[in-house]
Amino acid sequence: MEREPIRIAPSILAADFARLGDAANQAAAAGVDRLHVDVMDGHFVPNISIGPIVVQSLRRVTRLPLETHLMIEQPDRYIDAFADAGATTLIVHQEGAIHLHRTIQQIRARGLRTGVAINPATPAAMIQEILCDVDLVLVMTVNPGFGGQEFIADTLPKIRAVREMIDRRSLHCELEVDGGIDPSTAPRTVEAGARVLVAGSAIFHAADGIAAAIDRLRAAVR
Ligand code: DX5
Ligand code: ZN
Repeated sequence: MEREPIRIAPSILAADFARLGDAANQAAAAGVDRLHVDVMDGHFVPNISIGPIVVQSLRRVTRLPLETHLMIEQPDRYIDAFADAGATTLIVHQEGAIHLHRTIQQIRARGLRTGVAINPATPAAMIQEILCDVDLVLVMTVNPGFGGQEFIADTLPKIRAVREMIDRRSLHCELEVDGGIDPSTAPRTVEAGARVLVAGSAIFHAADGIAAAIDRLRAAVR
């Protein structure tokens, strides 16, 4: 089967929050096709990060699509706020959305792209029924909540399983991985079937700069 190109989604969680606009512009200049924005509420995950007002600020400084990863409880309550702020895609966790089908329909009704994420301990089967309703599946390769964690290799068979589920039904949904992605781990996820790579530390903490880090990641999966 013909494969779509590999895409890199820089996670601005690892950027300098005092210079977010710079970080976004540098990533855009390096040719990425989206930014990944991690939203954490201190309940679904232990950490607290950012909310709609930061998405709104980012929306003013970049034309890049903003892919917003909601690591929050009761995501339905915030769909309008993130849609109004200018998010392009809303990714919700299967584990955090009790009425996942309704949540996904509500996101779509706001005209946004839809995504569903699953934690390392959640089996691929949990998204079987929602797969044809989403534009993107995010397989977490760390437990969500923090940047800079170590890649969990036990998630590789699940990436493969989700890839098979997508291909078997000829769905157009993207398969993304998130957490601990760097030039050494990225090729393993791509080999398993991932096509969108979220990377935070590997891009924004690179000593030689954002563009060089993105090139390195691209070269690793070429
Ligand atoms: C983790 C977040 C990730 C994180 C990735 O909860 O969802 O997007 O920023 O960061 P790295 O690439 O440093 O693992
Ligand atoms: Zn994320």
